[in-house]
Amino acid sequence: MEPTGFNGRIFREGGRLYTLSAAPGIRVYGERTPRTGGMEYREWDASRSKLAAYIANGGERVPIGIGSRVLYLGASSGTTASHVSDIASEGRVWCVESAPRMFRELVENCRSRPNMIPLLADATKPATYAFAVDGADVVYEDVAQKNQVDILADNMGAFGAKYGMVAVKARSEDVAESPRAVFARAEARLRERGLRITDARSLEPWEGSHEMIVVEGR
Ligand SMILES: C[S@@+](CC[C@H](N)C(=O)[O-])C[C@H]1O[C@@H](n2cnc3c(N)ncnc32)[C@H](O)[C@@H]1O
Repeated sequence: MEPTGFNGRIFREGGRLYTLSAAPGIRVYGERTPRTGGMEYREWDASRSKLAAYIANGGERVPIGIGSRVLYLGASSGTTASHVSDIASEGRVWCVESAPRMFRELVENCRSRPNMIPLLADATKPATYAFAVDGADVVYEDVAQKNQVDILADNMGAFGAKYGMVAVKARSEDVAESPRAVFARAEARLRERGLRITDARSLEPWEGSHEMIVVEGR
């Protein structure tokens, strides 16, 4: 296993990505969990995780460290969130999900990961989960609904986060417009909201018509 240089918790071997498992012996979605040097690693499949796709495509702005407090919007059953929980193993990952069926699976996946906290809530209404989140360093968003960048900016503001990442799905914003135009509008809107874009990168071929945008606040 070769460290990627991000923060000591993300590795590469034979062209595949891995996170160092924070819950050895537990698989979340049937991923391979090779052991070497007394450590267990979890394969992180770029075709199943937009954050892994971003890194596989050369993205180097992952503002998540071992002690980060991460607010994860659109956690679904927790596939990517579980890798974020490996990375921020000494921090916290609050996982917001609005669909009850996905939330039930998410709750199961949080059981073996004490730093992963499930919240059944609507990411467009940060005030409804503010009682549970005592401030975030990073907001990661993958909700695939309209107004994705405003949801990011609103949550960063509400929880005082300096960093943000959003996987913009072009079709969720406008099915008729070209993805390129949707991404340009999303980037312009983030700047209007006072955020500085530190990276913007297509997630092709892993995820069609998606772009990951990484931002920094003041
Ligand atoms: C593309 S999936 C997320 C996949 C997940 N991030 C992963 O990589 O494992 C989008 C998720 O966002 C959820 N979602 C959509 N709108 C939401 C909202 N307003 N608040 C919270 N979750 C939302 C959906 O129910 C769905 O589970």
